[in-house]
Amino acid sequence: MQYGFFDDNSQEYVITNPKTPVKWVNYIGTLDFGGIVDQTGGALLCRKDPALNRITKVIPQLPASDFRGTTTYLKANRGGEKSLHSPFFSPCLVPYDRYECRVGLSYQKIVSVTKGIRSEVTIFVPLGAQAEVRIARFTNIEDTAVELDVIPVVEYSHFDALKQFTNADWVPQTMQCKAHWKENRSLVVSQAAFMKWNSEVNFFGTPQAVDSFETDRQCFLGENGYGSWAHPKALDGEHLSNTEALRGDVMTALMIKRGVLEPGASTTVITVLGQAEPNSVQSWMDRYQSEELVLEALAELKQYWSKTLAVFQCETPSEALNSMVNVHNPRQCQTTLNWSRYLSLYQLGLGSDRGIGFRDSSQDVMGAIALVPEQSKALLMDLLSVQKADGSAMHQYFPLTMEANEGDSREESDKQTYGDDHLWIVLAVSAYLREHGDHDLLQVEVPFYSKTLELAQRERGTVLEHLMRALDYTKHHCGKKGLPLLGFADWNDTVNLAGEAESCMIACMYGKALLDMIELCDHIGRQDLAAAYRQDHQDMKVVFNREAWNGKWYTRYFTEDGEPLGSHENEQGQIYTNAQSWAILANFDAEGRGEKVMDAVREKLNTKFGIKLSAPGYDRFDPEKGGVTTYPPGAKENGGIFLHSNPWVIIAETKCGRGEVAFEYYDQINPAAKNEIMETYEAEPYCYPQNILGDEHPQFGLARNTWLSGTASWLYQAASQHILGVRPTLKGLCIDPCIPAAWKSYKVTRWYRGKHYHIEVHNPEGLHSGVKSIVCNGEECEGAVLPLDIEAKDVHVVVTMG
Ligand code: GLC
Repeated sequence: MQYGFFDDNSQEYVITNPKTPVKWVNYIGTLDFGGIVDQTGGALLCRKDPALNRITKVIPQLPASDFRGTTTYLKANRGGEKSLHSPFFSPCLVPYDRYECRVGLSYQKIVSVTKGIRSEVTIFVPLGAQAEVRIARFTNIEDTAVELDVIPVVEYSHFDALKQFTNADWVPQTMQCKAHWKENRSLVVSQAAFMKWNSEVNFFGTPQAVDSFETDRQCFLGENGYGSWAHPKALDGEHLSNTEALRGDVMTALMIKRGVLEPGASTTVITVLGQAEPNSVQSWMDRYQSEELVLEALAELKQYWSKTLAVFQCETPSEALNSMVNVHNPRQCQTTLNWSRYLSLYQLGLGSDRGIGFRDSSQDVMGAIALVPEQSKALLMDLLSVQKADGSAMHQYFPLTMEANEGDSREESDKQTYGDDHLWIVLAVSAYLREHGDHDLLQVEVPFYSKTLELAQRERGTVLEHLMRALDYTKHHCGKKGLPLLGFADWNDTVNLAGEAESCMIACMYGKALLDMIELCDHIGRQDLAAAYRQDHQDMKVVFNREAWNGKWYTRYFTEDGEPLGSHENEQGQIYTNAQSWAILANFDAEGRGEKVMDAVREKLNTKFGIKLSAPGYDRFDPEKGGVTTYPPGAKENGGIFLHSNPWVIIAETKCGRGEVAFEYYDQINPAAKNEIMETYEAEPYCYPQNILGDEHPQFGLARNTWLSGTASWLYQAASQHILGVRPTLKGLCIDPCIPAAWKSYKVTRWYRGKHYHIEVHNPEGLHSGVKSIVCNGEECEGAVLPLDIEAKDVHVVVTMG
């Protein structure tokens, strides 16, 4: 069963049936202004913060057929025969002759044919704009004339997204709309909660002449609100009521009469939905007042993407890998960088439940630093400013206020720290420096977070100091066995063990963070620090191998009483993926244990849809283990295929030099390959999901929680840096392929530190890894790192494996 196809030439996925098994969405704009738009034109938009400054009202739990924040109605009169439909199928649900939703790079283009009218609507947020722009062209494709009214609609949320749902006293009394006509009858309707009228207002308008408008939902739907979005009663009349709502559920509908369209004739309608200070609304409207201006803005957006994607392009024997690595995966990395885990169909951006996650965004940055350097650096700085003076970190923050909180650990009065958060920032800053080499960053001063002190009063430290304190925190927060304390949880949010439980994954993360710091300190001439960190690495490696090795693989956790989780001694949860992969990432796999634990992962955890997080699943709720046991076996963290962990296995396999297996693991989770099995998979095939139900679950293979997952960043790193092996280091670009033996050659182009590298890798002997020679602009290079001091801007690199 298929719902669409990849159009690689236009870098789009084309949805051909709007009735997808779950909503399939795309992101437009950025967190500064933007949100989600789905396959039927519904849009959940916000400016800078979905919880505190939400614009459109979308209730994700409503059935897919329902109205979602925005739509357009078309009223047609063809020789006396009247009809009403939407070019987006929903919410009218009128049968269509053709439907196509092109999921593009930050734009959505919906083409449909219904009732003899071809509609083509492009939806996007122009670069840097505080507005969503829609340009729609309607063509009469029948051989009789048709009279056409176009009615674009938006329904507003109160700016405080959670209060919209929890408070029916204050919210409705505050919501208002005002209309502003111009002499040419173009109209913009502004909307605000009463307290916002002088600061910022939402606005919805069009440069076209408007006949009439409606802003009161009850009047629009009709029959005291018993009319429906599928057929609003107000649309039975010739004109809308021109009501400026003074309270209640507010919306804006614009009645735009386009007159008679002769056979073959077209008409274009532009709408702009934005937020601005009251006196700059008109200037935002003016920016998009003609088709030419809108198309220019769209072309700029396309240019932005071609420049961004040019950073890394590859041509390999795997079409599915090429499509992901060249387009969809970097696109998803940019999306996670923008939205962290703040706004999706799964993370709803309400209240203080989810914000910009410390660990999440630290990892997201790692996938985006080459693509969007400035934005990545700014995010790194924000993250560092919510690290505390003791080296640990707040779990999440809210970008509009920069207030931070402890995430779910607030549920526990005595343990409000996650044992891992702070270590991710060490990895992220190191990755940033490997890409850009601007070591001055390490000397920039950043405050440490405090809940009680004003910003000016907070202690400050250089970025280097922040990283050192992060390592120090873990060094000094270990338990009885000498392994790092779990705190409320580590990367796996759902294993919440009482008291002074210990985490073997944090031990490995600490090891990996130490490796990064050793490399960095050596590079910046701080051999004193490097030596101390080498010792710390060695010490933790010894403890880890002494305590975590259970004879077959590495154990994942120890309870306060020293009981293992993730050991063959356990009945359930015998083996956890992350304890194995991370041991290798940290260089902790002593005495040839690396391949052995990877074999255990293959035998116990691999399935045709991906590698499970653990096995076997816990079969009942057990408060002593925590959230993991709230899921049935095979779901999410309880033995599900938690995709985020798969790239760590892939990277570990490449570190073992096993290119065949690494690629097999990559390929088996490529969402593009799921296009054919949608009856099982259900979710969007153009981005990675967070989870797929595992083989213990009757719905094995069902994917959920697409878009905002660390999977994006890590798979991008795994594919580009570890399989294709084009890896930034502090000293330059290193070439270290680990590929299937059958690949005879592949190509990569990569922008790196101002130079454009054109890399060809040849594999004449059919190997998995190993490089015999590298020739750079005609000259043989020593070692695998390309020299940085080449003068030419274009660097042609020929790599021969051997
Ligand atoms: C979710 C969280 C992430 C966590 C993961 C595993 O993806 O956003 O922070 O690491 O679940 O529990």
